[in-house]
Amino acid sequence: MATLVESAKKAAAAQAVHDHLDPSYTWVGIGSGSTVVYVVDAIAALPRNVTSKMTFIPTGDQSKLLIIAAGLRLGSIDLRPLDENGKVRPLDVAFDGADEVDDDLNLIKGGGACLWQEKFVAAAAKKFVCVADYRKISPRLCTKWKTIPIEVHPLTAADVLRELRHLGSSEPEIRQGTPNKAGPVVTDNGMWLIDAPFAPLLIPRDLSEESQGKGTDGSWEVTALAEKLKSLLGVVEVGLFYGMNGIQAQNAGLDRQGQKP
Ligand code: A5P
Repeated sequence: MATLVESAKKAAAAQAVHDHLDPSYTWVGIGSGSTVVYVVDAIAALPRNVTSKMTFIPTGDQSKLLIIAAGLRLGSIDLRPLDENGKVRPLDVAFDGADEVDDDLNLIKGGGACLWQEKFVAAAAKKFVCVADYRKISPRLCTKWKTIPIEVHPLTAADVLRELRHLGSSEPEIRQGTPNKAGPVVTDNGMWLIDAPFAPLLIPRDLSEESQGKGTDGSWEVTALAEKLKSLLGVVEVGLFYGMNGIQAQNAGLDRQGQKP
């Protein structure tokens, strides 16, 4: 089983790099997690005269070390160049993994404790490529991956836990360290993570016009829940990635249908 999963991750990574890393690209985002290791391997295997023109932007310490170990040029999200109009240039593409992917390509992310930087990098790219193996596909989020990771400022964690219970999360918990570290997991940004269980999330086609983001049984729709969670004081980022097509189209100067306006 382990070998099958690793082969699936490797195959997905190879396909993603083959199909979506155009040799003309110069700014490339690299996400976090175990699948991304194979993405970096696939990129490092490309001819040096292709990759030497590229700068790779990490989403945390793990990807930073992967980029360095692969001999690729390391950049930083805060050092993107400006275009001729003084606007920050978007990344050409960003690759990242996911914990669960629904029918509308919304994602749960943050299982590997990288979250805020992942969203920052994804939202700064013209193209976001989610590299996911067969286990991650699920009609609705929170079906297989039962909890939503939420990155919070440590001082607000107790308040956010209370708010989450009010919003219908049964038993939200602060993620704890590995056996070698007592206490909460501390993210690359010095924050804590809360894993909040929710009933399977809905997508817009599940709802009637007047539903206001919730189904008749009280289940949340992805966007409505993400926006509600983001509005809580102390929440730095929510591990729900949604509406990425619109963001990427805007970065690429296209309309929502992917056409030049
Ligand atoms: C990191 O916090 C996550 O968002 C990862 O991208 C996600 O957990 C996927 O990780 P794997 O590739 O290890 O499954």
